[in-house]
Amino acid sequence: MSRLLEVRNLGVGLPRDGRVLRIVDDVSFGVDTGETLGIVGESGCGKSTTGLALVRLTPRSSWPHLQGQVLFEGRDLLQLGESELRALRGRDLAMILQDPMTSLNPVFTIGDQIAEAILTHDPAAASQIRGRVVEVLRQVRIPAPESRIDCYPHQLSGGMRQRVVGAIAIACRPRLLIADEPTTSLDVTIQAQYLQLLKDLQRDLGMALILITHDFGVVARMCDRVCVMYAGQLVESAPVREIFRCPAHWYTAALLGGMPRLDRKAERLVSITGAPPRPDRIPAGCRFAPRCPQAGADCEAPPPLSPLPGGRQVRCWRPCPGTPRPERHPS
Ligand SMILES: Nc1ncnc2c1ncn2[C@@H]1O[C@H](COP(=O)(O)OP(=O)(O)OP(=O)(O)O)[C@@H](O)[C@H]1O
Ligand code: SF4
Ligand SMILES: [Mg+2]
Repeated sequence: MSRLLEVRNLGVGLPRDGRVLRIVDDVSFGVDTGETLGIVGESGCGKSTTGLALVRLTPRSSWPHLQGQVLFEGRDLLQLGESELRALRGRDLAMILQDPMTSLNPVFTIGDQIAEAILTHDPAAASQIRGRVVEVLRQVRIPAPESRIDCYPHQLSGGMRQRVVGAIAIACRPRLLIADEPTTSLDVTIQAQYLQLLKDLQRDLGMALILITHDFGVVARMCDRVCVMYAGQLVESAPVREIFRCPAHWYTAALLGGMPRLDRKAERLVSITGAPPRPDRIPAGCRFAPRCPQAGADCEAPPPLSPLPGGRQVRCWRPCPGTPRPERHPS
């Protein structure tokens, strides 16, 4: 697999009351062609902001403090002009927003909205556009696409509308799809179907997928690698199998402890006490220290994101027992 996206030291700051709040701070990760990367963490930890920053869906005027590099096949998306970026969005990279229903325009048919996505990047498709739209609707498993193409969004169920949002995102066969909590508004059975659909589309189109979620169950089912975010920072990244076998960061361990276990009788979920800090109340040292069972004096200094064997990374002075030890280079 080749590296499609390389994010280096991404930072997003928002001006508030004369200072800059760091919503996302020093986030680095990579995504290979065809790979599924999960970004997981509690509410407010900066997952959506990270996703939006990758495709720069928020104009520079509202996010003037964007730092780092977002290299898509070697081109830094943070340095591109708006018109270059528009040409890439939809065609090479696409995003399904956290609140997908706001992506659909109630006054246009779903067919018109998918057609617009195709024609923006491929005007030559105009002569066979209806056939192309039907094909995309079929790809996202909309039944009877020839008749549904003329429906307005309100005429479809929630699950079906979600598929239409997916259809718009994949209409131009992007190489990278970012899906932000794509199933939270769906009921459980439809969620499973939609996740399977994303997996099938990814295989058929050879797409890389970044899946933003608060749910480690979704990560287990869908992802090859996972990045765990806390208070705007990456605190751990690892192959999914490894993180379930042996989490390195105490926050990851706590999140995994909160998952329902299939191998135990019904029991209360273990939850982490306290809440993540607000962006204007970030602790000076380790950001997780106020909630960490292992916090000690050394944790008053901010830990760096350190490499571990097996392509893993952790931001912790005292990683969980069993964490592979950092490789030491002979001096
Ligand atoms: N435009 C904005 N103005 C002010 N604060 C913002 C803005 N956008 C995000 N934030 C703050 O930045 C932090 C990260 O928000 P973000 O939406 O990225 O979190 P998230 O991890 O996606 O959460 P959720 O799981 O609830 O979707 C939150 O504290 C949020 O309140
Ligand atoms: S650095 Fe210290 S406080 Fe932070 S997660 Fe590690 S042990 Fe806990
Ligand atoms: Mg979000």
